[in-house]
Amino acid sequence: MENQLILAIETSCDETAAAVIKNGNEIISNVVASQIESHKRFGGVVPEIASRHHVEQITIVIEEALLQAKITPSDLTAVAVTEGPGLVGALLIGINAAKAFAFANSLPLIGVHHIAGHIYANELMQPMVFPLLALVVSGGHTELVIMKEHGSFEVIGETRDDAAGEAYDKVARVLGLPYPGGPHIDRLAHEATTAVDFPRIWLEEDSYDFSFSGLKSAVINYKHNVDQRGGEISAEEVAKGFQDSVVEVITGKAIRAAREYDVKQVVAAGGVSANKGLRTALTAAFDKEGIPFYVPPLALCTDNAAMIGAAASKMYDSGVRGNLAMNGTPGMVLTNWCE
Ligand code: KG4
Ligand code: ZN
Repeated sequence: MENQLILAIETSCDETAAAVIKNGNEIISNVVASQIESHKRFGGVVPEIASRHHVEQITIVIEEALLQAKITPSDLTAVAVTEGPGLVGALLIGINAAKAFAFANSLPLIGVHHIAGHIYANELMQPMVFPLLALVVSGGHTELVIMKEHGSFEVIGETRDDAAGEAYDKVARVLGLPYPGGPHIDRLAHEATTAVDFPRIWLEEDSYDFSFSGLKSAVINYKHNVDQRGGEISAEEVAKGFQDSVVEVITGKAIRAAREYDVKQVVAAGGVSANKGLRTALTAAFDKEGIPFYVPPLALCTDNAAMIGAAASKMYDSGVRGNLAMNGTPGMVLTNWCE
């Protein structure tokens, strides 16, 4: 069989990324141009600035991905791109580049859901085994997803307010740490020996949903109280207290879901799965439980195009094809592509 080579493009937020993926699981090239430095001084991603950077970077990044892969467009099987969710202006840059590339080279076009991409980052490391539980923890999403086969997604729980990454970034801001705050809180948490005691937000006993805004408020209130008394908080102890709460709740719910749905494999995905505390806790908990647990290497946890190519490969195999009418879909829902 001829090799399947997919050019994948991702521009949903603040990384301009392109990758070439062979047969769905082999990374031939994976180029990521981060804009973090440009957004840092604003304390978060500014959509208009993100779009402008994508426009400047997209052709360079695509060319670089093809160059590093040592291939020409005629070697490709298809072009894949993140269709949503994400910032609409940012999505449109990648989508228009993908459309133009597909049209110019007579290639099929595949639109990929960003979260499906995050989950499929795992397929680049080891084959997914079903039924599978995916724990998606990113800047925009916190979800528990059950997959019975490739392309089948059942969201059994999601955040009712802030996503885990959002909570990390907001708490980091309160502590005066730079954007994105997740890695900084993670680092500080590991420097503390004791933790400030913050609540665990479990919601209803049988719920797989999450809520992080109450925890975030608890951190803010704690800081205000100490400030008012003229005291000084320990950023390390606050970071550890916050992280301990997030990690305990996420791990607890993931374990309960894995048991109830009797899954054969658990995978973590998304930017927050780069968190050392979370990775350690999940690994230990599933080890004890006897359920195989995987989390991609850090570079495949945060936004990249390789993960989009991995998902697109399976979609291509299932006969999914997009067309040139594709549009950026900021609120795109994770739907099944299998029968
Ligand atoms: O998946 P991602 O790159 O973008 C979205 O699709 O949202 O996730 C970005 C999020 C940011 O909120 C960032 O603070 C968080 O991932 N993050 C972390 C860590 N590294 C990145 N959060 C906690 N600990 C980390 N080590
Ligand atoms: Zn993402």
